[in-house]
Amino acid sequence: MSAAAYKTIKVNPLSSHLGAEIEGVDLSQPLSNAQFDDIHTAFLKHHVIFFRDQKLTPDQHVAFGKRWGTLNVHPYVKGMSTHPEILEIIKEPTEKINFGGGWHSDMSFLEVPALGSILHAIEVPEVGGDTLFASQYGAWDALSPGLKATLEGLRAIHSAAEEYGSAGASSKKRASMDSEVVGDEVPEYEHPVVRTHPETGRKGLYVNPAFTLRFAGWTKKESRPLLEYLFDVARREVYTCRFRWRHGSVAMWDNRCVWHYALNDYRGQRRHMRRVTVNGDKVR
Ligand code: SIN
Repeated sequence: MSAAAYKTIKVNPLSSHLGAEIEGVDLSQPLSNAQFDDIHTAFLKHHVIFFRDQKLTPDQHVAFGKRWGTLNVHPYVKGMSTHPEILEIIKEPTEKINFGGGWHSDMSFLEVPALGSILHAIEVPEVGGDTLFASQYGAWDALSPGLKATLEGLRAIHSAAEEYGSAGASSKKRASMDSEVVGDEVPEYEHPVVRTHPETGRKGLYVNPAFTLRFAGWTKKESRPLLEYLFDVARREVYTCRFRWRHGSVAMWDNRCVWHYALNDYRGQRRHMRRVTVNGDKVR
């Protein structure tokens, strides 16, 4: 869709592969169908969309999320006491580990992973704390026909074990976020390695370094070299964009075709975000 085809918003792309900033909408107010349709079109076209200067109460954040589908309650991280669907992503000045500090697709460790995540900036560091995004359509398109044919027949095992299991980064006690340390009996789910997006019909790679353990029917050791190759392609700079947060910024990304990475380069400063995660459908 060309910029002129949007009826209610202005869309400013950040790069040719993904990312666009949207102007002309107040997410705290109920959206008309025409506004929602425009935002939805921009979301499918650009895969991650950004809004500036939004003042959202938790209720308004949840209401915007519910325009897209049902909301997830995180199985391992406790949400706000008043709004269990809202994750408070906080890093205090004294803390070292941040949440989401590695490439991943949210909730790929579930049987039915997330459609999208909507992150609202409450307090941002003066410098640092940007988020990176990478298009998994771009990664898929970059592969050779031979490798694509091999991958079409493969499935991969995803699990939260390495993140939320006893040795995982998110299981290390953080004063600011209430993460459950799960034992080593974390469930594993199998998804196709190549995903056909349920709305656009485009193919994208669907493996990620945080949650993909191995290919189904392969050992971890056998899987590692090919997974590492795919991860290298998937994070090539040309398929990425970078978002500089300001107080009130909102980002919404499509976990079905985008990875993201929260940079941890703001030691001694506080960062506070709120996230809702929209449930998706079974990966096909
Ligand atoms: C996440 O949802 O992984 C966190 C992203 C961020 O805090 O920038």
